[in-house]
Amino acid sequence: MAHTIKPLVAGNWKMNGTTANLKEPRLLAGMLRDVKLKCDVMVCPPATLIRRVKAVMRGSKIKAGGQDCHAAVSGAHTGDISADMLKDAGATAVIVGHSERRTNHKETDAMVAAKALAAHKVGLTAIICIGETLDERKGGKTLEVLTSQIKGSIPAGCTAANTVVAYEPVWAIGTGLTPTVAEITEAHAHIRKELSGVMGAEGASTRILYGGSVKPTNAAELMAVANVNGALVGGASLKAVDFIGIIKAYI
Ligand code: PGA
Repeated sequence: MAHTIKPLVAGNWKMNGTTANLKEPRLLAGMLRDVKLKCDVMVCPPATLIRRVKAVMRGSKIKAGGQDCHAAVSGAHTGDISADMLKDAGATAVIVGHSERRTNHKETDAMVAAKALAAHKVGLTAIICIGETLDERKGGKTLEVLTSQIKGSIPAGCTAANTVVAYEPVWAIGTGLTPTVAEITEAHAHIRKELSGVMGAEGASTRILYGGSVKPTNAAELMAVANVNGALVGGASLKAVDFIGIIKAYI
């Protein structure tokens, strides 16, 4: 059934971008205007830019997403942002559990699951990130780690419509390194199997993105791997020409 899944290419700008960078999504929207796409496209800028990014992409099908949200609806959480606020700014999705959040902010699987639930409650799609560290891969623990992250980070009520899983090996993020096709095949097949365990039938049609040093030069090869239903792109999503080079895998 995997062939019926519409892929998603999502760009994660991380902590990059001010109004000076709005020319990139404007360019992206222009370049995609008359293109028949076989995938969905999303840009996840810093929360401060979501509304502006949406505005410069008006008329295009490109969606906007947030990069993180708090598990609570509102309250005394200085500096945090709620799923509802992201939605209000124009987001239709939010990334949760990115490895940089897990590492820099000590986010646990339980916290990630709570954030995904918060996203679902306001109607946002949760893009739930999982992935092993280099030590875990070297120690032969990759599949075990993925299983425990899936069991811990994917809350009840997840469906193929409200959930996207992103497999991002920590050691591949921002390093220029990528797993081999065989390694990605193995990881994604494993994730597919485990998703059925936690999501039932919905697991078969849930999108599983690959993320970690996806570039225009390797996108076609990576996106052709079984059970890879798109990409979560960091560095190469900042420039429209690079991002388009990746989206081209689906044109
Ligand atoms: P990268 O980041 O494409 O720069 O490796 C991916 C991510 O962290 O989502």
